Amino acid sequence: MARVDAAERRIGIIYASSRDGWIGIGGVMPWRSPEDMAYFKERTWGHPVIIGQRTWESIPESFRPFRGRTTVVLSTSAEHAAQVEAAGALAATSLPRALDLADGAEGSEVVWVAGGGQVYRQALEAGLVDVALVTVLDVLVPDGDTAAPVLGPDFELVSASPTPAGFHTSPTGPDYRFEVWRRTAPAHLDREAPAA
Ligand SMILES: NC(=O)c1ccc[n+]([C@@H]2O[C@H](COP(=O)([O-])OP(=O)(O)OC[C@H]3O[C@@H](n4cnc5c(N)ncnc54)[C@H](OP(=O)(O)O)[C@@H]3O)[C@@H](O)[C@H]2O)c1
Repeated sequence: MARVDAAERRIGIIYASSRDGWIGIGGVMPWRSPEDMAYFKERTWGHPVIIGQRTWESIPESFRPFRGRTTVVLSTSAEHAAQVEAAGALAATSLPRALDLADGAEGSEVVWVAGGGQVYRQALEAGLVDVALVTVLDVLVPDGDTAAPVLGPDFELVSASPTPAGFHTSPTGPDYRFEVWRRTAPAHLDREAPAA
């Protein structure tokens, strides 16, 4: 398998957020959205996925590592790393190391960062993110404890389904909207910029 050059690879973040900007509560997601779960699977299928240790813990054992996707888990703990590797995922002690592992995996022309809050924030602050796939759920989470990442002014909304303010109706979960946000300046240009 040919290794994708880091300058050619694209990095996306993918998350679901409540209308009031929360993605987690008590270590889990505050809802069950079958449509968001299906969307996550469809969009990330065949590509490496990077997640933090707490998000890994929140995934039921039978669903981890993600099927059909190399799963890279960030942790500073050797004990956690050993557990993750025993379960069939890869463990990394830093975001650059996680990306290096992802670059060697199947489908690495696109790498997905899939949470949680800490890891989204680091990827955005490092200027690594080219695209954000956001599922907005028509719920409020007054006690949320993990905030959705902040997409700065360098991100623009390029599509919203069904509309920028509307929601699809879900028969079994919260109503939902799929948004695609793209960084206006390609993230890889920042990555290649010489250090000041
Ligand atoms: N709504 C959504 O789409 C969505 C998606 C994913 C997660 N979530 C939610 O988000 C919450 C979890 O987010 P979180 O911010 O608490 O935790 P997290 O980002 O999932 O994981 C944090 C942990 O990852 C490790 N880590 C993070 N950055 C690292 C780095 N640069 N190098 C090495 N290790 C690193 C550390 O583990 P060690 O302590 O082991 O070192 C850290 O404690 C949960 O509620 C989850 O359900 C929501």
